Amino acid sequence: MQIIENKNLKQLNTFGVNAFAKHFVEVNTVEELRVALKDNRFPDKFILGGGSNMLLTKDIEGLVIHINLKGISIDFEDENSVHLKVMAGENWHQLVLNCLENNYGGIENLSLIPGNTGTAPIQNIGAYGVELKDVFVSCEAINVESGKHKTFSLEKCDFGYRSSVFKTIEKGNYIITSVTLQLTKKDHNLNTGYGAIQDELTKMQVTHPTIQDVSKAVIAIRQSKLPDPKELGNSGSFFKNPVVDKASFENFLARFPEAPYYKVSENAYKIPAGWLIELAGFKGKRFGDAGVHENQALVLVNYGNASGGEILELSKKIRQSVLNKFGIAIEPEVNVI
Ligand code: EPU
Repeated sequence: MQIIENKNLKQLNTFGVNAFAKHFVEVNTVEELRVALKDNRFPDKFILGGGSNMLLTKDIEGLVIHINLKGISIDFEDENSVHLKVMAGENWHQLVLNCLENNYGGIENLSLIPGNTGTAPIQNIGAYGVELKDVFVSCEAINVESGKHKTFSLEKCDFGYRSSVFKTIEKGNYIITSVTLQLTKKDHNLNTGYGAIQDELTKMQVTHPTIQDVSKAVIAIRQSKLPDPKELGNSGSFFKNPVVDKASFENFLARFPEAPYYKVSENAYKIPAGWLIELAGFKGKRFGDAGVHENQALVLVNYGNASGGEILELSKKIRQSVLNKFGIAIEPEVNVI
């Protein structure tokens, strides 16, 4: 394992901001990961996966460990289903494509989500009516302090909307090394209830969709709304959709009866942050090289040379403005470093 000094992380974060790692190492096996974690020369360790859910606002002291564990294997298989064990460094969308080629169903709605498989459980990635938890069996992880291995079952992960145990009580304590998913081999359970998918399938003139069709529809929707990080730096949704209680919601709806919303439970309503940000006047706005995407106001973008600090400033301006206009607090979904 070679430790590189002063490595620029611009290519390793999807926002494409300049930030340097004082010390950087890539690990290709779980054993290398253990060795890197034990390296006493660097008391502070920073784990870097696909770099798709973080905003780097400063250089990183200590040791940056880049997880490059690769491999996909079958853990269990019968006539109807398969359990795929996927190493953390596998690119998520490549995995989706691989599954579609093998006709394994379950993650087609999660097509084109940037990032690596190992980071997918941390925020329970989700899109178009499906979340990772719907196909999740377990994940393997290494304790950062002890180097000991632990298996997290579905229950232990405590998944919620863009949340898991790895974002709450176990935050920073574990590094996920592999994820096992349960996928269907036939009689796929298609999820086309999300309005835009059905519209897209109709546009494609598909009446009896396959999992491959659903993936194509999702890809078309995402490409029309969300910028490709390779062309325009971004981290997907920068904010979470706020969930408010019934009293606040009724108050809000009386003032903004045209607002879209989803009822989560009797006392919880989710309001699309993109709608709030658009009405606050930020959609498509640019401040230097930091901006708000023109097709989806939830997404902040880097037009080239924005620093992490500039993007963070813009996010604060948006939060304040949304709070002033609607009385609703919106929180970042990405990890601000
Ligand atoms: N909307 C606006 N203006 C905007 C954006 C959205 O008015 O600029 C309105 C839309 O018209 C619609 C509603 O907000 O009525 C919801 O929009 P959309 O269906 O695009 O979904 P979203 O709530 O904005 C969430 C996820 C996305 C995911 C989509 C589809 C979060 C924070 N974001 O966005 O996830 O792809 O649903 O399921 O939950 C990501 O996490 O990076 C991500 C892209």
